[in-house]
Amino acid sequence: MSPSPDSSLFLLSRVSSTFEQRFGRAPRLVARAPGRVNLIGEHTDYNDGFVLPCAIDFQTLVAASPRGDGLVRVHAADIGPQAFDEFRLDQPISRRDDAPWTHYVRGMVQTLLAEGWPLGGADLVLAGDLPQGAGLSSSASLEVAVGQAFKSLYGLERLPAVELARLAQQAENQFVGCRCGIMDQLISACGEAGHALLIDCRSLATRPVPLPPELAVLIVHSRVQRGLVESEYNLRRQQCEAAARHYGVAALRDLDLERLERDRTGLDALSWRRARHVVSENQRTLAAAQALEKHDLAGLGELMAASHASMRDDFEITVPAIDRLVALLQSVVGQQGGARMTGGGFGGCVVALMPEALVGPARAALAQHYRAPSGEPATVYLCRPGAGAGLLDSAALAPLR
Ligand code: GLA
Repeated sequence: MSPSPDSSLFLLSRVSSTFEQRFGRAPRLVARAPGRVNLIGEHTDYNDGFVLPCAIDFQTLVAASPRGDGLVRVHAADIGPQAFDEFRLDQPISRRDDAPWTHYVRGMVQTLLAEGWPLGGADLVLAGDLPQGAGLSSSASLEVAVGQAFKSLYGLERLPAVELARLAQQAENQFVGCRCGIMDQLISACGEAGHALLIDCRSLATRPVPLPPELAVLIVHSRVQRGLVESEYNLRRQQCEAAARHYGVAALRDLDLERLERDRTGLDALSWRRARHVVSENQRTLAAAQALEKHDLAGLGELMAASHASMRDDFEITVPAIDRLVALLQSVVGQQGGARMTGGGFGGCVVALMPEALVGPARAALAQHYRAPSGEPATVYLCRPGAGAGLLDSAALAPLR
């Protein structure tokens, strides 16, 4: 599957026509924000480290018009006709636990207000084509798209994309209740077409890294439902924080492998292995950005393989089906690219980089040799590195009215 221009147009047409049916007028604008795939740098973001994700051409759209009465009305088109929410800006915004999808909208609006951004009311319709629960950041893309819609409706020109991402992360941490790092929101807000972004998660500085045009980005969903994600994720964070305390550093970003080994006495073996993953993954991520820049695909493949092994052995966030999937893709790709698990772990997706010519053989190998424990085949998404959040061109909107 790959989202053709037609499927983006279809999504745009759906979100606009649903808006007209629901609210009896055309939307003033349609904001968009992409999902992401991380090429390398896993569980490094909340350790102030480095990540190398790219935005993908699967996305969330928000059709929006302003309201003068301080009311926000929201319809989630993908969920069904009854998926509707309504809240006021002049009253405390609380969680609606009967409808978890509302957390992302309410959380984003509440965070913008709390930071003093002057918002008014709005009518909103949400729709997207990101697979849910696959680990491709559908929630970050929703938060960022909602933030982008309010930014554009209310002319918040002084709200830079990096700050929008920081607020979206804050909404996720404080309102939704998930202690994620900054990677997903930052790449959704700041991605660049044709590029991955090397992000320094301490300074939030970014460096665009061009992806060679002949290189295909294949995302393969294992069809293993991601289990235990939240509890295991939070546990990994605690273990990393404990290791940083042991070494007396602000974050694991501040360690190198030599110091990790030298001062390990007194740290339990498990926390030490967790720390070794993070410290070595930071080095691999910086090296992978260089390998991409030099078109060194064999070197890139080695770094991706080492990253996967480290996630499997030291950080223990892979599952056997994912390990099989990665090995299968690595055998097809050889020295011409690489494959590794991507995202938080415990199921979800694998990312593989390879020349276009190998996409057919990779699909064939998956169809023949891979089944999830449930018996289902893998789902393959062929992606292009896309741009970060923005507005859809109103010229594209006009013919649909
Ligand atoms: C999830 C989180 C990110 C990051 C990754 C692991 O996607 O949302 O902040 O920690 O896991 O790299």
